[in-house]
Amino acid sequence: SDTARAAVAAHTRYVAGFPEPGVVFADLTPVFADGAALAAVIDGLAAAGRGPDGATAVDLVAGLDARGFLLGSGVALRLGVGTLAVRKAGKLPPPVLREEYQLEYGSAALEIPAEGIALAGKRILIVDDVLATGGTVSAAVALLRSAGAIVEGVSVVLELDALGGRARLQESPGGAVAVAA
Ligand code: PRP
Ligand code: HPA
Repeated sequence: SDTARAAVAAHTRYVAGFPEPGVVFADLTPVFADGAALAAVIDGLAAAGRGPDGATAVDLVAGLDARGFLLGSGVALRLGVGTLAVRKAGKLPPPVLREEYQLEYGSAALEIPAEGIALAGKRILIVDDVLATGGTVSAAVALLRSAGAIVEGVSVVLELDALGGRARLQESPGGAVAVAA
């Protein structure tokens, strides 16, 4: 929404050379620390989980480790559904499903529980703070699909257009993924 975009523009801090030379890091910490900005952002993210009639059109919100957690729970409450924390490797007890990926800086893996949550056929909205190369979200899409879930869309606060995340998701194996920012 325009309100969310204005809040993000007003409160985001850009830091050159973090976490390594050549990267300009968009720090959303001040956005989340401002009550009105946080509310606007949560509302904006939740819109991607509604149908044309405004009714909730997903069964579960998946928040990506770690900053996606700040948002996923709020979006889930807004939509009246539950939330799933998609974790970095080694945080969840076995059995887990796992998907490795490359970051703008470094590599990592995401995991979800392989038991205890029925994901087959569930419609999921993925939520994260920043879409950069799209590596993290692509891994989350693959991971959730491997559990039989249907990824209805991806909602992020900020898209770093130059890094091509949206294009990568449009070419994602198993079908294009809609991105809302
Ligand atoms: C950041 C960010 C996204 C991802 C975006 O998280 O919060 O999840 O990177 O980059 P990508 O589109 O190139 O994959 P990070 O892995 O740094 O973890 P954190 O949330 O634990 O800080
Ligand atoms: N800001 C926040 N998170 C990120 C960034 C960034 O610039 N790049 C990759 N993840």
